[in-house]
Amino acid sequence: MKIVVVGSCSQDYFTIGDRFPKKGETLFGKDFSMSPGGKGSNQAVAAAKLGADVTFLGCVGNDDIGEAITKNMSDHSIKTNYIEKIDGVPTGIATIIVAEEDNIIVIVKGANNAVTVNYVQKNLNVLEDADMVIMQLEIPLETVEFVTDYCYEKGISVILNPAPAIELKQELIEKVTYITPNETELEIVFNDTMENVLQKYPNKVIMTNGSLGVNYHNGKEIVNVPSYKVNVVDTTGAGDSFNGALAYSLLAGNKLSEAIRFSNKVASKTVQDVGAQTAMPKLDELEQEDE
Ligand code: RIB
Repeated sequence: MKIVVVGSCSQDYFTIGDRFPKKGETLFGKDFSMSPGGKGSNQAVAAAKLGADVTFLGCVGNDDIGEAITKNMSDHSIKTNYIEKIDGVPTGIATIIVAEEDNIIVIVKGANNAVTVNYVQKNLNVLEDADMVIMQLEIPLETVEFVTDYCYEKGISVILNPAPAIELKQELIEKVTYITPNETELEIVFNDTMENVLQKYPNKVIMTNGSLGVNYHNGKEIVNVPSYKVNVVDTTGAGDSFNGALAYSLLAGNKLSEAIRFSNKVASKTVQDVGAQTAMPKLDELEQEDE
């Protein structure tokens, strides 16, 4: 069950407030915290916390933050020995405001821009060994296209989480195994209605929609897999935990419908605490709840 995440890792700076500031407004926040993030690293940690064998391909700056987020992944039993330290650029960071049961995120990509085709080519042996590859769009798009082509040729499954969203080439969409936009991302990536997109790509486009659950087409009809009703504290990383869990569950041999249900549950745990990776559940925590 080998998962390889090709993606971003960053340090998240969280400010918790009662509401979002208006343009030009200064507000007092209620709390502040820092924790490891980046969609790639979050997805890797989500899968690793569930017990998957995860290798991370990505880059950090040659700085203390880079050291810390690499150590954090390694502490979660993720293989980090292929992570490259890049001189002269900082590790990626994200400024996050949490309020009104939602968040606003501004990312400075820094060393995540160094996850180039050339970097992946140096690590093709890692990719070749993967059962499932997970990617997002916080690294250069050429890299995502290159990895997708490679995996397609080798018959390796790919989950593409198209975030932050941009319009994508048809060929890329055709070649990935699963693509997991949220509602807003679906509109940007496909420039079409949800119904049309889901119908066109049965069992491939899996649209997450927060408290409204997940929609996909099962080959016969569009189905909604409802979300769990929980007390939402911070939604940061919920989508990432969904993607990591989806990879884990599919590789464990579950049908897509079961894997989506399981991943919804993982995401519902993640929103119940502040932070992305820190709030993600371990497998035994989920099992204890089922008892
Ligand atoms: O998806 C949540 C993540 O988006 C945060 O951890 C932040 O780093 C940004 O990449």
